[in-house]
Amino acid sequence: MGRLQGKVVFLTGGGGVLGRASTLLFAQEGARIAVVDMLKDKAEETVRQVLANGGDAIALEADVTDEIAVQTAVAATIAHWGYLNILFNNAGIMPHQDESVVDMDVQRWSRIYAINVQGTALCCKYAIPHIIQAGGGAVVNMSSFMAFMGCIKPQDAYAASKGAIVALTRSLAVQFGKENIRVNALCPGPIETEHVRQFFADPAARKIRLDRVPMGRFGRPEDVAELALFLSSDATSWLTGQAITLDGGISCNYFSVLE
Ligand SMILES: NC(=O)c1ccc[n+]([C@@H]2O[C@H](COP(=O)([O-])OP(=O)(O)OC[C@H]3O[C@@H](n4cnc5c(N)ncnc54)[C@H](O)[C@@H]3O)[C@@H](O)[C@H]2O)c1
Repeated sequence: MGRLQGKVVFLTGGGGVLGRASTLLFAQEGARIAVVDMLKDKAEETVRQVLANGGDAIALEADVTDEIAVQTAVAATIAHWGYLNILFNNAGIMPHQDESVVDMDVQRWSRIYAINVQGTALCCKYAIPHIIQAGGGAVVNMSSFMAFMGCIKPQDAYAASKGAIVALTRSLAVQFGKENIRVNALCPGPIETEHVRQFFADPAARKIRLDRVPMGRFGRPEDVAELALFLSSDATSWLTGQAITLDGGISCNYFSVLE
């Protein structure tokens, strides 16, 4: 019996690296997944991989900043399976151009907030009533260790948006605890994805970051998928309102190297 046997999951950004790794693991554990992404091809590729492994998933195209699109995607999920137990708000962006507020481009700031924060809130707006109807379940919001850590090379809009997700997580956990819904935030450090590799393209820049990781490596998509599964599953039946940092120990580390 899988750890998500029979559970229906609405998972955003499911065509991306972490969304795909999570979808594949959730499907292995018996979940049925609505793979939601603004890029239909990417969502369909994730679904193709799930089906090839004998799992159950559907691809839905939706931009999480578009209220009607989110409402329609949640309705399509209910129309397909009849109920919803888990929402994984994974869709998010981290543009390379996002730096300090003192150089802020307001449009870029707004776009990051619209996707990372408002997109998360909109999915909650339409999914949570169905999770209540199903007798409770779990919401997992993708934040980042940047919600808690400053950096000499700033990404201010991204960091602030991920901090807002932690605050929203706590508020929702309090509101919906009585409805048997657990709401937690997942806060990864750098995961070895192509996007993150581009950030550290210069080997010296990569080494500076790696020296700071007590576990000696960046994260893997599977590390994130395992924690997302744990937070989604009934194994965490009394865990709510928490922001769990998954960063190989970076946020515990004061010095990066000893002279
Ligand atoms: N990769 C990391 O190191 C890392 C670390 C901490 C947190 N995160 C967070 O994890 C999440 C996934 O990251 P990833 O590395 O898999 O990125 P990714 O770019 O591979 O995947 C993100 C997916 O979200 C989709 N998306 C973007 N905007 C959308 C929108 N408006 N509506 C619907 N879908 C949209 C994209 O099409 C893409 O498929 C993000 O929220 C990111 O901030 C990533």
